[in-house]
Amino acid sequence: MGEPVVRTAKRQAMRIMGHQFVMGRTIAEALDNSLAAGNRRYRYTFDMLGEAALTGADADRYFTAYTSAIGALRARVGEYADAEARPSISVKLSAMHPRFERSHRRQVLADLTPRLVDLCVAARDAGIALTLDTEESERLELTLELLEAICREPRLADWSGCGIAVQTYQKRAPAVLRYLIGLARETRRLLHVRLVKGAYWDSEIKRGQERGLAGYPVFTRKPNTDVSYLACARIVLEDGVDLYPQFATHNAHTVAAVWHMARQSRREFEFQRLHGMGEDLYAEVTRTEGLGVPCRVYAPVGEHEDLLPYLVRRLLENGSNTSFVNRIVNENEPIENIVADPVRAVDGYERVAHPRIPLPVDIYGPSRRNSSGLHLADGAVLRELADRMQHVSRRPWIAGPLVGGRELDGQPEPLRNPANLAEVVGTVGTARAEHVGEAIGIASRAQPDWDAAGAEPRAAALDRAADLYEQSLPELVAMCVREAGKTVPDSIAEVREAVDFLRYYAARAREDFGKPERMPGPTGESNELSLHGRGVFACISPWNFPLAIFTGQVAAALAAGNSVIAKPAEQTPLVAGQAVRLLLQAGVPPEVLHFLPGDGAVVGAQAVADPRIAGVAFTGSTETAKLIHRTLAGRAGAIPVLIAETGGQNAMIVDSSALPEQVVIDAVQSAFNSAGQRCSALRVLCVQEDIAAKVMRLLAGCMNELVVGDPAFLQTDVGPVIDAQARDILEQHARKIVQGARWHHRRELGPATANGTFVAPLAVQIDSLDVLEREVFGPILHVLTYRARDLESLVDAINGTGYGLTFGIHSRIDSTVRRVAARITAGNVYVNRNMVGAVVGTQPFGGCGLSGTGPKAGGPHYLHRFAHERTLTINTSAVGGNASLLAME
Ligand code: FDA
Repeated sequence: MGEPVVRTAKRQAMRIMGHQFVMGRTIAEALDNSLAAGNRRYRYTFDMLGEAALTGADADRYFTAYTSAIGALRARVGEYADAEARPSISVKLSAMHPRFERSHRRQVLADLTPRLVDLCVAARDAGIALTLDTEESERLELTLELLEAICREPRLADWSGCGIAVQTYQKRAPAVLRYLIGLARETRRLLHVRLVKGAYWDSEIKRGQERGLAGYPVFTRKPNTDVSYLACARIVLEDGVDLYPQFATHNAHTVAAVWHMARQSRREFEFQRLHGMGEDLYAEVTRTEGLGVPCRVYAPVGEHEDLLPYLVRRLLENGSNTSFVNRIVNENEPIENIVADPVRAVDGYERVAHPRIPLPVDIYGPSRRNSSGLHLADGAVLRELADRMQHVSRRPWIAGPLVGGRELDGQPEPLRNPANLAEVVGTVGTARAEHVGEAIGIASRAQPDWDAAGAEPRAAALDRAADLYEQSLPELVAMCVREAGKTVPDSIAEVREAVDFLRYYAARAREDFGKPERMPGPTGESNELSLHGRGVFACISPWNFPLAIFTGQVAAALAAGNSVIAKPAEQTPLVAGQAVRLLLQAGVPPEVLHFLPGDGAVVGAQAVADPRIAGVAFTGSTETAKLIHRTLAGRAGAIPVLIAETGGQNAMIVDSSALPEQVVIDAVQSAFNSAGQRCSALRVLCVQEDIAAKVMRLLAGCMNELVVGDPAFLQTDVGPVIDAQARDILEQHARKIVQGARWHHRRELGPATANGTFVAPLAVQIDSLDVLEREVFGPILHVLTYRARDLESLVDAINGTGYGLTFGIHSRIDSTVRRVAARITAGNVYVNRNMVGAVVGTQPFGGCGLSGTGPKAGGPHYLHRFAHERTLTINTSAVGGNASLLAME
């Protein structure tokens, strides 16, 4: 089947499904439908279809859609029997602000409060109610803050028409209800409370695991969600006299249980369902001869191109094994099971948590713990982080050569904050030539004992170091922010990656170096293969991951039984020095680990040239890697090993089936997070020409929402580049590449960037990959359009750059994904997501060609490159014959 046929079929299928779940393409159509004879027994709440806004223009459009929907309702409210029968409006806040995130709280409250108040005033004047939808748990506090602002708005003082959905799969639902009861009482109004179970359960679980949270915000067993719903219903009915109860569910058991409770409480209430779902159930519920309880239908309104994400949520809900609407149509499932009492099920559990959904810390099983993250939507967590970061920043930071455990005096040099060059964050003493020689001498003498001690004590020291890193997270974050200009979320991710490296290599060392592997062979002989450290490793790391890559190299070398000379990047010795202190505190012998800050061309070059260095682990530019390679090759004596991780010319291919909104979110993260200073960062976004105009429009809008500034502030998305030299090279490239470009867009810099080395994010169209001579290491994204028939040659051209590090594909056609993934030679390929942030042990990281030698960091083969292999063969029949053979029956 050709693409046009598939497209037509897809459009038709969307139309059919759209009809099932969407009430009308326009509010006028939806109103007409709601007033049609068969539909009049229901009440309605209209939701304008739209997902999280990407751009300010999207948010404006959504706001306008609501304003005019309320206007349209106002004109027709007289056609409904009474005030209760009138339709209401449901509002999704993330669609009304492009940064509806906790990190942008101040801006969100400033922008959204007046808009919401305007909508509420319009709704009140129209005589209709307005309810706030609730979305991901991270947005709940912001949503509640906005609701409170509405309730406290003097213009809305007498209004009892606003409400909010409360998700009972969230563990804090009862606390939220108590808060709402207090708010309603205090502001003397009736608040509408729509009790829902929640629509984002799977993504809550995934996010909890990815972020290494202490626990999940939601229950992990379905009956717990059901019981929570009933408990919340009881709170609303018994204690919530100032709440108007609205029970939104399609579950017959939930309906029946709530109905019984509600009858006893003699409260006014209504049920609610989604358009296209629960029709049979509610035919019975609403019938006067049935339960005779009113039901309101949540009815999305919009065009089918806005439908997809909503549709996906509904299809997931309808298709989920645990969902009532799915189970009720399953003829093999006995009805007693489907309407079983959830309270009894929960009573029967030995433990509340689902046995197959491990806590985020346990997702890697018994061999290692997942690193702990911070819940950045939790105000208390943020306050503690800020306090500790400030505390540690009060004293000046110092680093200097650490040789054999002794802090030596080096040549002192100040280090400045790249976000504010006037601020000196600390001082580094750079190592002298004699320090290098002395450190290598001590390290060479200490290495055999460290190797002979075996894997367990080495792994135990690394595990202890991981714990110390976690305990020092705020301090390490403060250093990454102020010394390297990294944003707070990037810095937290950096500490977590370092912790993961420590625990992962500890686990691999226990597994692979713990005891010799028995090899097969003839009887009468035992054969074993064992792994040992090579000697002294020089670990030379870059400034862009001053803690994670530094720690990863050092931890791998140590785990494999080597001693280490660690040379941090010139720009970031402070955080690396702190890492070394923690490693020594954890029990790594001071004779085994030495720290030599200094100039690469001096300290690094001297170490690499020293014949006592058995291997070099290097991350940095391809040019420097080649220089090291030549130095090592020119040395007399044994051939040393080089493990090099270098740059990339990373591309993402986007075909016309991809979802432009998702593409842009992922492209912006991949290109501009960390100010584009990641080896994995996206450099060339290749978009099929059919959707290029839309992608570029969204890209520009999304870039306008990026906050460029001091990374110490949580709302900052893009911090400075590392130094003036880097900035000047990037600006030079920017000037050249925009000349004659068919399209480009640049985010302007604000005054907050005046004192630092900032580069305004730039997206620029190019006509060919050939214009890119080398890696552009900063926030500059090149956009290349291609024709569908040129896909293969495009992949070949990307391979032809000689780099092969990361690569992204955005396509909803499986065969295209497989075809492109098979043809591309990049080391890390990501499909339908961003292409940065490789996780240790999950996405081992590293490329080929000009991008590095391998093996992949954070992968199962990495430690082996740091090791010598030895076999031991013992002739067990040499003395007195082959006893085991003779003993056989
Ligand atoms: P059912 O009894 O099948 O329960 C499904 C629930 O169980 C879901 O919440 C699901 O996540 C949960 N679940 C499944 N497996 C689980 C497990 N292992 N552990 C714990 N829980 C598990 N949603 C939302 O998030 N925000 C909103 O603002 C709204 N608004 C809204 C308005 C109206 C009028 C309706 C009818 C619905 C919503 N929804 C919503 C969607 C709503 O959350 C969704 O329809 C319900 O979760 C379905 O619950 P039922 O009782 O119908 O089904």
